[in-house]
Amino acid sequence: MTGGAGYIGTHVYIELLRAGFRPAILDNFSNSDPAVLGALEEITGQPVDCTRIDLRDGPALSAVLAQGRFAGVIHLAALKSVPESLLHPSAYVDNNLGGLVSLVRAMEAVGPRALVFSSSATVYGTPERLPIPEDAARGFTNPYGFTKLAAEQILEMVATADPRWAIGTLRYFNPAGAHSSGLIGEAPVESATNLFPAIARAALCRGAPLQLFGSDYPTRDGTAERDFIHVEDLAAGHVLSLRRLLDDGRGHRVNLGTGQGHTVLEVIRAYAAASGRDIPYRIAPRRPGDVARCVADPALAERLLGFRATRGLEAMCHSAWNALIRAEMPRQARARAAARPGWPAPLQRSLI
Ligand code: NAD
Ligand code: WQD
Repeated sequence: MTGGAGYIGTHVYIELLRAGFRPAILDNFSNSDPAVLGALEEITGQPVDCTRIDLRDGPALSAVLAQGRFAGVIHLAALKSVPESLLHPSAYVDNNLGGLVSLVRAMEAVGPRALVFSSSATVYGTPERLPIPEDAARGFTNPYGFTKLAAEQILEMVATADPRWAIGTLRYFNPAGAHSSGLIGEAPVESATNLFPAIARAALCRGAPLQLFGSDYPTRDGTAERDFIHVEDLAAGHVLSLRRLLDDGRGHRVNLGTGQGHTVLEVIRAYAAASGRDIPYRIAPRRPGDVARCVADPALAERLLGFRATRGLEAMCHSAWNALIRAEMPRQARARAAARPGWPAPLQRSLI
């Protein structure tokens, strides 16, 4: 798995192991910390197979793939910040498309030809229909979105040119939450611009109150509506996708969402309830590029993969807060605090 040390990749790693695969992580740690590997070992009770590599280093990548006798590749590695991509579009094209092309070339040379690709609801641009089906028109509204759309198109051409390829394109909606152990989660909370990290900062009273972008959308409470999906559900979707590719050798392109939307205000309230903290916020103008509503039609993923999200907003908020608090607490204080009522449960050594 490329990008396996990141937020989603670490959760996918655990699900793969639980499903009986023997995953190996390739990552350059440009947006992750090698310390996360220790957390993965603590959760799984097994050593992690990880190679530090930049995907754009084609010869090194081919060498790793050639030794691995891998059945398939899950390609998560990418830069993912929309505002950063607006400032540095060429870096996004270089990393996200350069990385993809390098990976495809290496797989063409030494195999395997089963690939699960991390795409995004961003490829729907400004959605025309809701809930959004997979055959909706595609577009992009920022350089990050361009890289995801172009990557999908490159992979479509690759699969058309050579039917030995089996490619599963997974369009994530809004991933949120963390692993039930609390040992891994979304990081860094400090700089991320997504809603959950922003709420987390507000809950910890770090900096100014949360800015709630837009209260005049045509939604039930005027704030924007999104399809938040628990990262553990999302991870399970990758295993289903990979299994499907390996079983029938045919590709698929599916949404991974819940089909249910929550507004920004609903998320703020749910997070406040889960954390027991006030979430100070103030209404700000709409954020440029935001759409009013973005909700998946999850039917195709259920039909093709048997995928169905099982965890709701409350579980996302609880698990996100649990992971945040654990990351915040000094190591020595954890054991004492875990014994106190109201604090998260003690660490479990192996959850698999
Ligand atoms: P992340 O930044 O936490 O993880 C990405 C990992 O890829 C990081 O560990 C990073 O070091 C690594 N990486 C980046 N470029 C690399 C390169 N050239 N070579 C090797 N490693 C590299 O991000 P995430 O949230 O886990 O996202 C994973 C994937 O899912 C990305 O492709 C992202 O675009 C996609 N996605 C994320 C979201 C979201 O909201 N988190 C939504 C939709 C799609
Ligand atoms: C959700 C809602 C904000 C922060 C992005 C990417 C998308 C995909 C998922 C990767 C919006 C509001 C947010 C804040 C707020 N990523 N908000 N105050 O924009 O739906 O999707 O992440 O593929 O490509 O665009 O997610 O979490 O940034 O925002 O009011 O401080 O929360 O305006 O309405 P988004 P988000």
